[in-house]
Amino acid sequence: MLTTLLLSAFLGLSQAPLLPDIEEGIKGYVPTAEAVAAKEQFRDEKFGVFIHWGVYSMLAQGEWVMYNEKVPYETYSTYPGGFYPSRFDARQWVRQIKASGAKYITITSRHHDGFSMFATKASPYNVMDATPWHRDPIKELADACHAEGIGLNFYYSLLDWGRDDYPRGDGNPKADYAHYLDFMCEQITELLTNYGPIGCIWFDGDWAKIKKPEEGQPLKVDFDWGYERIYKLIHTLQPSCLVANNHHRVPIPGEDIQIFERDIPGENESGYSRTSHVSQDLALETCKTLNDNWGYNLRDPKWKTVPDLLRTLVSIAGRNANLLLNVGPGPDGTIPEGSVTRLAEMGEWMAINGESIYGTRATMLKPQPWGVLTHKEGKIFLHVLEMPENGTITLPFTLKVKKGAVKAFADGTVLPFKKGKTDFTVQVPQDADCSIDYIIEINL
Ligand code: GLC
Repeated sequence: MLTTLLLSAFLGLSQAPLLPDIEEGIKGYVPTAEAVAAKEQFRDEKFGVFIHWGVYSMLAQGEWVMYNEKVPYETYSTYPGGFYPSRFDARQWVRQIKASGAKYITITSRHHDGFSMFATKASPYNVMDATPWHRDPIKELADACHAEGIGLNFYYSLLDWGRDDYPRGDGNPKADYAHYLDFMCEQITELLTNYGPIGCIWFDGDWAKIKKPEEGQPLKVDFDWGYERIYKLIHTLQPSCLVANNHHRVPIPGEDIQIFERDIPGENESGYSRTSHVSQDLALETCKTLNDNWGYNLRDPKWKTVPDLLRTLVSIAGRNANLLLNVGPGPDGTIPEGSVTRLAEMGEWMAINGESIYGTRATMLKPQPWGVLTHKEGKIFLHVLEMPENGTITLPFTLKVKKGAVKAFADGTVLPFKKGKTDFTVQVPQDADCSIDYIIEINL
């Protein structure tokens, strides 16, 4: 009995809260049953692909090119006149992305440059009306996603480098946030009305209105984005649509997913995070690039290797989070070859090993020097990322398992184990290949 209790607490199966309620910020938000179910589905999916694509892709220097190169808005806003991605094929994107094993796509519907990549009535500055292409790639993508059975989420920038009503902080006399908020709500309504079921709206840009606090001082947020209205709108229009916000701080009421930008939850290796807080209640997602850029960049050769990408995915799964891995299609509308091949190779590995990742949850045992654990339905998976000392893994709890219960996931080889009173030891074979992830399955 005690073993069962200990084990279920360890696996996070207990009904009682396992950690003190430290999420002051999210008190007061009670997600609907639809949102709760959607959050669990999101957690099951583990792997998504991010798409950064817009007018900026033509300039091949990433999505910040307008800002970085100080291109005046009057100039930048003529560029859509040359946007004609003649090789765009939504079905092909979806197939290339599905081949990676990803279960959902998150695409930039409107980035900081303020150009809407979807047909919108809220502004003429959009792909349908302001380009000679006159197509709505978001509609084509939505149709392809729904036909191919993969989820679709929308990235949406809160900040805007062009609109007069957006308070940029440069004293623009026409700044009128109430007006801008109405515009955003009109667009969000379109996004959640015209494209079928959407998994999540993924906000970005909140950080633009936060000042870096003095050393040792708490973070003060004194700009009111009107989140209450925005989040309520989303949850009302599509109750199963989740809210994510890449604001780098403790989640606030109405949010369903906590985002970690270029970061393993809680580690802040990117330096963007303003909190070490990792939510227990919200789903978690880490977004990462395949090279160094989000938007298409010709001069970025820093491609990550497939083993590294897979190890990241596994490490993140062992922290109860999803990986959102980015591709930046080019101006012709195709996903760069270097991304397509990497996605395909990841997919080959996931097709074989996905059982130990999809649908799993992290355990209460924190990541270990040798790797991470995941679990589901009577199974624990040890993901051995580094050969442990003496090839021995000691878990700080015991397990009541039968003979032959511990196996190499790859070929079913039975592995030796020892049940202690309070611990459980597994022997990793000397020749185990940990270059990606040596997976050990424990059947409970
Ligand atoms: C940052 C960047 C933005 C990018 C996002 C993706 O917020 O400003 O360009 O879209 O990260 O996580």
